[in-house]
Amino acid sequence: MPATVSIHGQWSTRLAFVLAATGSAVGLGNIWRFPYIAGDNGGGAFVLVYLACILLIGLPIMMGEILLGRRGRQSPINTMLTLAREEGLSRSWGLMGWIGVLAGFLILSFYSVIAGWALAYVFKAGTGSFSGLDAEGSAEVFGAMLANPEGLLAWHTIFMVMTAMVVARGVRSGLERAVTILMPALVVLLIVLVGYSMAQGAFMDGLRFLFQPDFTALSPNAVLLAMGQAFFTLSLGMGAIMVYGSYLSSEASIAKTSGSVVAADTVVALLAGLAIFPILFAAGLSPEQGPGLIFVTLPLAFGEMPFGVFFGTLFFVLLVFAAWTSAISLIEPAVAFMVENLQLNRVFATTVVAMLAWTLGIAALLSLNVWSDYTLFDRGVLDILDYLTANILLPLGGFLIALFVGWRMTERSVQSELRLTLGGIYTVWYFLVRYVAPIAILLVFLRAVGLI
Ligand code: TRP
Repeated sequence: MPATVSIHGQWSTRLAFVLAATGSAVGLGNIWRFPYIAGDNGGGAFVLVYLACILLIGLPIMMGEILLGRRGRQSPINTMLTLAREEGLSRSWGLMGWIGVLAGFLILSFYSVIAGWALAYVFKAGTGSFSGLDAEGSAEVFGAMLANPEGLLAWHTIFMVMTAMVVARGVRSGLERAVTILMPALVVLLIVLVGYSMAQGAFMDGLRFLFQPDFTALSPNAVLLAMGQAFFTLSLGMGAIMVYGSYLSSEASIAKTSGSVVAADTVVALLAGLAIFPILFAAGLSPEQGPGLIFVTLPLAFGEMPFGVFFGTLFFVLLVFAAWTSAISLIEPAVAFMVENLQLNRVFATTVVAMLAWTLGIAALLSLNVWSDYTLFDRGVLDILDYLTANILLPLGGFLIALFVGWRMTERSVQSELRLTLGGIYTVWYFLVRYVAPIAILLVFLRAVGLI
């Protein structure tokens, strides 16, 4: 029998876990990545496929990932090794943990660069640089930031240090309280922005873009991107949710917990979309702005609305905060593993991982300027890191989680961990993990590479 409590500690309450997992899920993925990928891929149909992936693949896999973590009570690598042993399976399941550690490290490297953009924008908003800005001026401000590698490096460094500081102290201290106050504040501010969009933006155009599906505009690759976005935004498939699950008490309901996290995450992404697209259409911009979308669009609103300096600064502060609580969960699996297996102390382990990710992040930020000519399949380093992790490694991790929970663990172990009292919910969930999620992932992969 594996331990019932992790050596790294335990969440004080179920709510603390929900907050931490929500902190991990809600981040740049919702506010920066979702709108720009939806914009690049034609809106409506993409959003619908994304929502279907959240519900049919993301939610069941999240329950599976938490279940594994809580049963194994260790870093994802050791959790998989322990559970494989317990079920009499091959040790190669430990590889799944390794893929996760790799994916987390790769994501952190570019995530910190983008969080650095948000940090830079806190100061731009605070000093009133947005007032009277038109679309062209806003694009210029953003372009100038990307063209300046020293500036990007400074912000990237600050963000990485912030992240390492929290992880070094142990993820629980401070995180719970901060998330309780700042997450709701972010939601309130997004609602304020949606209000502004309703009053001043082209709200109906935005609504139509986001929710009126045009399936002819949906390429097989867009379906892959929608699935990748579902994994990315829910922090699924690399062990972040697994390691948080390993700190969850045995009594807490995995189903309810996952439901709350998924609901909160989806609401934030949709609010961000509802805030941004009406402003964008009112300014006559094309939705295909790429990664700069929110950084070009939102300053237009902050530059014009009453108290724009206040709201703008607060918005980017909260965005940085949301990115921070997400970044923490990206290194936690690697750090937990190094503490368990190499007997390193947390501070040292964190420093090593953060420094490696920081170094790779430098390559990512240089790909935006000095190295912009070096591309592979037309993508620079940052783009490659993003594409490889979100669209390939995370769904692959999710696929393996679904296989392990749905096909390799005995149903008795699964049931004893999940303890769903409502039989109907259990049946639906088990069907989704066993059949729907893995088959869907496989089909999307095969279709994207043109094999079907
Ligand atoms: N979900 C976060 C976001 O939307 C990013 C993130 C944090 C993540 N931890 C993760 C993504 C683990 C994938 C895997 O911003």
